[in-house]
Amino acid sequence: MVKDKIRAGHWELKNRMVKAPIHSETCVNGRITEETLKHYKDRTEDGRFGLVVVEHCFVRKDGMASATQLGVENDEAIEGLKRICDIIHKNGSTAILQISHAGCGALRSVTGCQPVSASNISVNCGWPGGKPNPENPRPMTRNEILALEDCYIRAAERGMKAGYDGINIHSAHGYMLDQFFSPITNKRTDEYNGYTIEGRTRIHQEIILGIRHTIGDKPLLALRLGGCDYMEGGTTISDAVKACQIFEKLGVDLLDISGGLCCFTRPGHPEPGYFGDISEAVKKAVNVPVLLTGGVKTLQDAEMLLAQQKADLIGVGRIITAQANWGKELLD
Ligand SMILES: Cc1cc2nc3c(=O)[nH]c(=O)nc-3n(C[C@H](O)[C@H](O)[C@H](O)COP(=O)(O)O)c2cc1C
Repeated sequence: MVKDKIRAGHWELKNRMVKAPIHSETCVNGRITEETLKHYKDRTEDGRFGLVVVEHCFVRKDGMASATQLGVENDEAIEGLKRICDIIHKNGSTAILQISHAGCGALRSVTGCQPVSASNISVNCGWPGGKPNPENPRPMTRNEILALEDCYIRAAERGMKAGYDGINIHSAHGYMLDQFFSPITNKRTDEYNGYTIEGRTRIHQEIILGIRHTIGDKPLLALRLGGCDYMEGGTTISDAVKACQIFEKLGVDLLDISGGLCCFTRPGHPEPGYFGDISEAVKKAVNVPVLLTGGVKTLQDAEMLLAQQKADLIGVGRIITAQANWGKELLD
C-alpha cells in the first residue's frame, strides 16, 4: 500500500509517503545556506518519498515566523529556492513549496512592525505549548487582505519559477490563514467573517482562485488545513469537511490535514495518525487525495493508517528530521 503509486491532480506520485514540511532553521535573512541544502540532500536522498513538501516560506516580511525562516517574498529568493528544488528533483521526488504568513505570530523583534491578522487576537502559533505574541495584532482592512492575497499569489508564481511541481498553501498551526478559519481568532463581521464557513474560508478561496489563474491547471496545488482546534469555540471536524469540499471545487489537488490552534500535536493523543479522525471524515467527503501527518514513526504505522482508510498519503516530520536516512526501505 505505502509503495503504491497515487495520482494527485496531473501528477503521479511514486508512493504514498510524504516528507512533511519542516522548518529547517538554517536560513539567514530569508535566504538558504549550505546547511539548508544539506538538510534536503540528506533527507531526500534516493528519492524515497513520493512527495517532498519544502518548509514554510514567508510570503511577505511582516509574516516571518522566525528569524531563520526561508522566504519567497521577492524575486531574489528564486535562485536559492531553485537550488533546493534541483536537489529534490535530482534525487527523484516530486517537490512542492509551502507558502505562509505567520499573522499574529510574527514578532516585532523579527519583522520590525506590529503583526496583522483577521482580528486583534493573539494566540500561540507554530509550536505546541508556546506563548502568544505579547503584542496584539491589528485587524486588516479589506484592501490589506487583498494586498496580502496578492503576496500569496506572487509567492506561488515564484515557486513555479524556481522549478517546483506545485505549491502547498499553509492554513494550519494557528498561522494567518488558520487565524481566518478559526472562530477563536476571527471575530470579523464583514465578508471574511468568523461566523460562517463561507466567511472563514473567503481569503482561502480568493488565494486558491488567484493562484490557479496565475500558475495554471498543471501544478500540484495542495492546502494544509488545520482541520480542528480541539478547543471550545474553535474549528470542528465538520467545519474541516465543509471547507475541504469548497477547496476541492476551486481546484485544490491534495488536502493536507493537520491541527489548527493546537498546532501540530493533539493533547492526550500520542498515537500514530492522531489527526486521523479529521482526515478520515474529509476523505469520505472529497474525491481528491487526502494526506495525514502526525505521530507516524514507522512504515508499519503508515501501512496501518492507509489500511484503515484514514488517508491516501502519510506524512512524516520529526522522525525524518531526527533520522535523515529514515524510510530507505521504501526503495526495496
Ligand atoms: C521542527 C519542526 C518544524 C516544522 N515546520 C513546519 C513547517 O514549516 N510547515 C508546516 O506546515 N509544519 C511544520 N511542522 C509540522 C510538521 O510538518 C508535522 O506536521 C509535525 O511534525 C507532526 O508530524 P510528525 O509527528 O511526523 O512529526 C514542523 C514541525 C517541527 C517539529
